[in-house]
Amino acid sequence: MSCVCRTFFIFTNLRSLYFGSINYRLSIIIYNYKMSTTQDYIRENKQRFLDELFDILRIASISADPAYKDEVLKCADSVAKHLKVAGADNVEICKTKGYPIVFGEKIIDAGLPTVLVYGHYDVQPADPLELWTSDPFEPVVKKTELHPEGAVFARGSADDKGQFFMHVKAFEAMMQTSSLPCNVKFIIEGEEEVGSASLADFLEENKEKLSCDVILISDTHIYSNEQPTVTTGLRGLSYVEVEVEGPNRDLHSGLYGGAVPNPINVLSKMIGDLIDDKGHITIDGFYDNVLIVSDEDRKEMNKLKDDPEGYKKSIGLNDIQGEEGYTTLERASIRPTLDVNGIWGGYTGEGAKTVIASKAFAKISMRLVPNQTPEEITEKFTRYFEKIAPKSVKVKVTPHHGGMPYVLESNTKEFLAAKKAMEKAFGKEVLPYRSGGSIPITSLFEKVLGAKSVLMGFGLDTDAIHSPNEHYGLYNYYKGIESIPYFFEFYAQS
Ligand code: BES
Ligand code: MN
Ligand code: MN
Repeated sequence: MSCVCRTFFIFTNLRSLYFGSINYRLSIIIYNYKMSTTQDYIRENKQRFLDELFDILRIASISADPAYKDEVLKCADSVAKHLKVAGADNVEICKTKGYPIVFGEKIIDAGLPTVLVYGHYDVQPADPLELWTSDPFEPVVKKTELHPEGAVFARGSADDKGQFFMHVKAFEAMMQTSSLPCNVKFIIEGEEEVGSASLADFLEENKEKLSCDVILISDTHIYSNEQPTVTTGLRGLSYVEVEVEGPNRDLHSGLYGGAVPNPINVLSKMIGDLIDDKGHITIDGFYDNVLIVSDEDRKEMNKLKDDPEGYKKSIGLNDIQGEEGYTTLERASIRPTLDVNGIWGGYTGEGAKTVIASKAFAKISMRLVPNQTPEEITEKFTRYFEKIAPKSVKVKVTPHHGGMPYVLESNTKEFLAAKKAMEKAFGKEVLPYRSGGSIPITSLFEKVLGAKSVLMGFGLDTDAIHSPNEHYGLYNYYKGIESIPYFFEFYAQS
């Protein structure tokens, strides 16, 4: 197609959209006229790509808190508009029992492979607000030691708005330079941070609509900017809430203390007993199904330089601890864990109140590795917790959402396309990296859609996701946008 003809086509297409300014249309026309490459287009539009991300970050789409419902819905609208402007067809805000899923696609040739891009537009709550150095929903760029070029500080900047938005912009760049080499579909959901319940149903009901060859996800991190990686594994999750009940009412700690079970003391002791001195979890049968990683694979993964000093410094620790016989890297990826996420009960107000509480509670997460399953581990936890409870108390275990672990072998074409793409963008060797976090939907994608997920995330583990002062490096944002078209290119060739 000649330059002029193509320019005209894009112009008429964009005219039908109400979003975007005249300037934006004009800049697109000029680009086509110059026949620029995808990477040129990205370079020349950097500032706008950042400004548009800021607009999405300003929306407080907190899925966990019903008070933010309107904001979550507003965010879905915004994602849909951006997809349309970027050039997606059939953009839909799909209703679910919970928050909507935004869909869009560009099918250029049924004979070509289809890449399904997945991401989430919901974010974690921002509290505790007083620990933020700027407003979590008013993005600003600040320099940090690890991000000398600056990082965007905002809730969701790294998890996952800044990352899924790279795909929207990379897609726009491929569209505007007529270089999209495969079909593409998008599903951006609004309930990832609360367990993706609606997405599971949506997959089952829309197998045809979502049919694809590979799923591409940017919702993880690289090892470091000096050592980029492709994530080859995620841990699964079993999450439970426990309740220990002692006396039928709160008691005077002087009149009764010493003679009755104190639920908070009992719960603390029980939790303490769940992990032994060697860092092993004591739950009966907990390790039965754990896939032992071969010495060869362990050697391979430990090629990533363990940096204990930098690690400790970044989180303000004098020393680290964990399961005996494993490196920090291994402890946080190929080994299962048990952590208390919250514990409460009794008096926590001002001053002192002398009381023995009737009940104590805790929320506990267990990160799982292949071939553990959340059902199996929740069941084993419950049995063991009931077993170790003293006769003097009643215990109750309530399971929350869980998820399966996920692994992508490093000899697959999916992994290799991502590795080559990132190597081209970063100009460095890219290694496989197993992460400790969870994206439970990946194993469901495999089961329902029969496709592997490639986890090509660009954050850093120090980006403070789920914490105050979450941020995402500008370097990372742009490297991501550069890498994505290369992935499409290499995947289409494979
Ligand atoms: N994007 C994260 C998961 C993640 C981050 C994986 C970095 C690997 C590296 C995701 O949004 C998340 O927070 N997942 C939850 C699980 C979910 C069931 C709530 C998690 O890992 O705690
Ligand atoms: Mn995420
Ligand atoms: Mn998250």
